[in-house]
Amino acid sequence: METFRIAVIAGDGIGREVIPAGMAALEAVTQGSGTTLEFIELPWGCDYYRTHGRMMEEGGLEILAKFDAIYLGAIGAPTVPDHVAVWDLILPIRQRFDQYVNLRPMRLLPGLASPLASRAPADIDMVCVRENSEGEYAGLGGRVHVGTPHEAAVQTGLFTRHGIERIVRYAFRIASARPRRLLASATKSNALQHSMVLWDEVAERVKAEFPAVEYRKYHVDALAARMVTHPATVDVIVASNLFGDILTDLGSAISGSLGVAPGGNINPERTSPSMFEPIHGSAPDIAGKGIANPIGAIWAGALMIDHLGRRDLHDRLLSAIERVVAAGRVRTPDLGGRATTREMSAAIAGEIGAA
Ligand code: IPM
Ligand code: MG
Repeated sequence: METFRIAVIAGDGIGREVIPAGMAALEAVTQGSGTTLEFIELPWGCDYYRTHGRMMEEGGLEILAKFDAIYLGAIGAPTVPDHVAVWDLILPIRQRFDQYVNLRPMRLLPGLASPLASRAPADIDMVCVRENSEGEYAGLGGRVHVGTPHEAAVQTGLFTRHGIERIVRYAFRIASARPRRLLASATKSNALQHSMVLWDEVAERVKAEFPAVEYRKYHVDALAARMVTHPATVDVIVASNLFGDILTDLGSAISGSLGVAPGGNINPERTSPSMFEPIHGSAPDIAGKGIANPIGAIWAGALMIDHLGRRDLHDRLLSAIERVVAAGRVRTPDLGGRATTREMSAAIAGEIGAA
């Protein structure tokens, strides 16, 4: 019997509604499996900020470092400026624990309708490998002449050979293991003549190690258009931090709903815990109504259990999600139904038991 300790940060808004659904699904799938997850809930987020003036407690990163993985809901509420919330919690976790891979599958599940007319599941099955430690999110820059008419801000992207090489290599590995073996690199080396030219050069060199993978580079704007016009030609995408952020909202939207897509912030060398979260945010507009789609959180839980070594339990969770979605009886409003978060989560947990 192996036990993993999971730090749970449900966070804000619908994060608090979908994470309990994810924990229930993970409990159902681990029952009798030989693997136990011990969840320790940390009350961090924007409410915590209101009373303590910070998003997580002092020494929070040291606390998290002792866990096997982190399960995150969503961060952000109207009461705290978004950049404060994010730079006090999510981004420090991603950076300190060197979770340099942000892995985001985007698939049209059988039974769901894509807003792209007449697309079937075989047409929309992509994975984005997003660089998660540097690039446009390096946090470098500053503001001068604050409050004056001459105020100026600089936000610098940081691209290192080391950072590009490791993310591109990870993406080639993911692409090698998929049937189509296609890798699309999102670049913009026409306009960004320093950072993205380095990106392309490094990618070209790594490519030589993976002759079986078909590698193509696209300017990110053209790739965004291609994801809409020819989604079936896109398999694995490797992108810088900001480009990957934008492309994964697009990819999950064409997969039927932002509520479905999961993400893993992965430290492949396992020198620190990895973190798993749905890619949607805290959705203040529907928070508290109990109607958020729990699939993104449950699927993120599946990525977590896979990372912890139980691919079989990942597959069971995914097939339970697929069966509930395909049957079409229980669906949250984002998928055109009337089910609540609880009903959908109960249906999925029921399918896990049934399998
Ligand atoms: C995401 C989110 C975050 C990001 C925000 C909350 C900083 O949009 O995980 O995609 O931009 O990385
Ligand atoms: Mg995003």
